[in-house]
Amino acid sequence: MTGTLRHFLADDDLTPAEQATALDLAAALKAEPYRLKPFAGPQSVAVLFDKPTLRTQASFAAGVAELGGFPMVVDARLAGVGVRESVADVARVLGRQASAVVWRTFAQADLETMAAHAGVPVVNALTDDFHPCQILADLLTVREHRGRLAGQTLAYVGDGANNMAASYLLGGATAGLHVRVGAPAGFQPLADVVARAAAVAATTGGSVAVLDDPVAAVAGADVVATDTWVSMGQEGDGVDRTAVFRPYSLTAALLAHAAPDALVLHCLPAYRGQEIDAAVIDGPQSVVWDEAENRRHVQKAVLVLLAGWAAGEDA
Ligand code: NVA
Repeated sequence: MTGTLRHFLADDDLTPAEQATALDLAAALKAEPYRLKPFAGPQSVAVLFDKPTLRTQASFAAGVAELGGFPMVVDARLAGVGVRESVADVARVLGRQASAVVWRTFAQADLETMAAHAGVPVVNALTDDFHPCQILADLLTVREHRGRLAGQTLAYVGDGANNMAASYLLGGATAGLHVRVGAPAGFQPLADVVARAAAVAATTGGSVAVLDDPVAAVAGADVVATDTWVSMGQEGDGVDRTAVFRPYSLTAALLAHAAPDALVLHCLPAYRGQEIDAAVIDGPQSVVWDEAENRRHVQKAVLVLLAGWAAGEDA
């Protein structure tokens, strides 16, 4: 490898300029899907899942194929990543077979170990901490509908302690958004994530705020987002989230506090009647199907950029 080995493990692994480049490239690839053949070495991209998936597997498989590559989908539980073999050994093996490794898993630290040993770019396909590919898709969707990102206010309501909230803070701040998280005490973002996002926002003209009042969070917002109250891996933890999150449910009444033409985002899967009402997710302000499609385009852009940097086409 003659270039710079880079990874996409968290939203702020891309600078604001690089994020804008990724979104531009994603838009170009959306218009012309088969334009680029970026893989200089092995044509496979290893795609591993420790958690359930629909959009991520489908969009990476379709996207890698459109880039002329082969999506080598590996069931991480069957392979026993970190169980049957150490994460580092798995990384060393996959890095000899594939041009990049994409992994959905639990611990961010395990993803970092994969990145430290793979010798090829590693992409976060969701961890407990971050879901950066999803936020890029959300940003592309907002940009398509609004024509711009910087200066828009994005309100996220619900579980502020999950991966989506953290990625909205970091990725949104990178795009110059004003990001507001409305979440109850005990389910608010980690202070270090908020501080990290605030530091980025200071360079982009964006801002970040954490509130416990859902109405204040949503008031006048240009974009309103929510996510499941029970993230993958939390299903059996015995915590009753329904009562505490109910006031943060994205109902038509809560959405009415946003700008009249506010866009509605949800990364899916959605639980209608819980974190979002059917009338909202299936209503005229919802852009969730564009959001789901855009996973493919932004992930292709990330793979192209990482492959290019690894090959020496430094940004
Ligand atoms: N917070 C959710 C996102 C699903 C795409 C989870 O981790 O399950």
